[in-house]
Amino acid sequence: MSEKILLLNGSPRGKKSNTLLAADALIEGIRGVTGYGVTTLETNSLKVSPCRGCFGCWDVTPGQCVIRDDMQTVYEAAAAAEIIVVSFPVYFFGMPGPVKTVTDRMIPMMRAYDGGPVLHRVRPAMQGKRFLFVSTCGFHTTKGIYEPLQAQLKAIFEEHLPPLVTIPQAELMQVPQMKEIVDHRLERVKSYGMQFAKGETDDALLAEIASPLILERAYHRLVSIMRPNT
Ligand SMILES: Cc1cc2nc3c(=O)[nH]c(=O)nc-3n(C[C@H](O)[C@H](O)[C@H](O)COP(=O)(O)O)c2cc1C
Repeated sequence: MSEKILLLNGSPRGKKSNTLLAADALIEGIRGVTGYGVTTLETNSLKVSPCRGCFGCWDVTPGQCVIRDDMQTVYEAAAAAEIIVVSFPVYFFGMPGPVKTVTDRMIPMMRAYDGGPVLHRVRPAMQGKRFLFVSTCGFHTTKGIYEPLQAQLKAIFEEHLPPLVTIPQAELMQVPQMKEIVDHRLERVKSYGMQFAKGETDDALLAEIASPLILERAYHRLVSIMRPNT
């Protein structure tokens, strides 16, 4: 059965995903307030073909995609959910391919373009859903990394722009000696999840979560020890 929180996990690294740690903290915060259950779908495990661009979902069978694959599970889980958490590592300043493929395949959930403003209006099945995006990156800062993604989300969601929770220096999450620093950051992420569940938005907290965990030079040194052959 689909639950009221849908987690779409877009990291190919399964349980070893840095981003999943942040997504889990966010969801812990959301569940602490709402008590909702969670359905998790892994974009890399789903068999989802790329959109064919046929517009059958607009012109022939409105709202229904002509391709029958695992995307049906995503449609059903998304329709049942109140809160949709989309979690992925940043790849080349954007979303990884499988996440983009799932995004493209959401076009049946949008009303056919019939002129007017340049935005995708959602069909009733997707109206009122609350989205929350979470992402980690490997560079030492989030500055200059997330602007392209922010711009894309703004264009897609317009006035319903969802929050984007970002964490830099995510390689630290793999280092046992950094556990205390990482756990503190994840606690702040959990707090953001609680705020989100209450309908609050705290940009200062988002900025704090997006700030570097350690000094840039120390991070570079650590990464060069972790990846000596690069
Ligand atoms: C193909 C690829 C592209 C990446 N591109 C970027 C990038 O543009 N900027 C960045 O800061 N990190 C980049 N990274 C690093 C990942 O975003 C980072 O390691 C992330 O924490 C991995 O998250 P995950 O464990 O949830 O998969 C890239 C990693 C890969 C594998």
